[in-house]
Amino acid sequence: MLDRNKITIRTLFDKVTKGEPISWLTCYDYPTAYFQEQAGIDMILVGDSLGMTMLGYDTTLPVTMNDMIRHTQAVRRGAATVFLVGDMPYMSYQPSNETAIRNAGRFMAEADCDSIKLEGGGEMADRIHAIASAGIPAMGHLGLTPQSVSALGGYRVQGRGALQAKKIIDDAKTLENAGAFCILLEMVPDRVTKIITERAENCIIMSLGAGPDAHGQLLIYHDMFGLYPKFKPRMAKVFGNAGEVILNGLTQYANEVNDKVFPQSENWFTIKDDEYEELLDLLK
Ligand code: KIV
Repeated sequence: MLDRNKITIRTLFDKVTKGEPISWLTCYDYPTAYFQEQAGIDMILVGDSLGMTMLGYDTTLPVTMNDMIRHTQAVRRGAATVFLVGDMPYMSYQPSNETAIRNAGRFMAEADCDSIKLEGGGEMADRIHAIASAGIPAMGHLGLTPQSVSALGGYRVQGRGALQAKKIIDDAKTLENAGAFCILLEMVPDRVTKIITERAENCIIMSLGAGPDAHGQLLIYHDMFGLYPKFKPRMAKVFGNAGEVILNGLTQYANEVNDKVFPQSENWFTIKDDEYEELLDLLK
């Protein structure tokens, strides 16, 4: 069993100060959360990517607050010490500051989160400020922001052109000034990430496919283990092919049932002879 104290914002900033990278993964369920905590992962994001990885939608847009709360609660039950981030789903914060505070509050009160994350640049500074002012640690998300995938023209690297890169750098500073304690950069070029990280004064910069110079790294769990059949993003490193292992096991099970190889005597339960005789008498 892992023996460690609860990871807090202070723990994360201490790691930054010491130059120790922060490890972060997505997770959506109890057993995976348990394993991630045992592995010593610092942070977990219950991402609205669960709409795709767990619920089979093509985008994250149909995910609701209730979906998010249910999965986040399960994750917290499996990983009491991780720094838990709830991802605000589509339209849970865009309409108004009040909507944003209420829904961020649900993550904290109902799912025992340590922070929330929301997508968007300078235009979301007001939401970040409102949530942070309500005492809820707020995290920004720049670069590829899946809730705006239609406006961005697909899942593609953001900030390859100088003007767009400058906008991402400016947005990062605006979010930091609005009160974001952390910003995730997704699919942003490495040298842009480096500039943002060097300029961050009181803000942790995390990378998802945005290079090595951030304060820490995020990966999507399903991409790490070949568990999402529809595609594998280029930036994801596969650490093991659990999808293949599971598919092989399932195929073997189906074959063994068909061939009457499964079950064997160790896979079922028996009744004692005398009880069985009595049963037969009772049934007469
Ligand atoms: O929902 C999610 O998992 C995310 C990541 C893509 C960063 O927001």
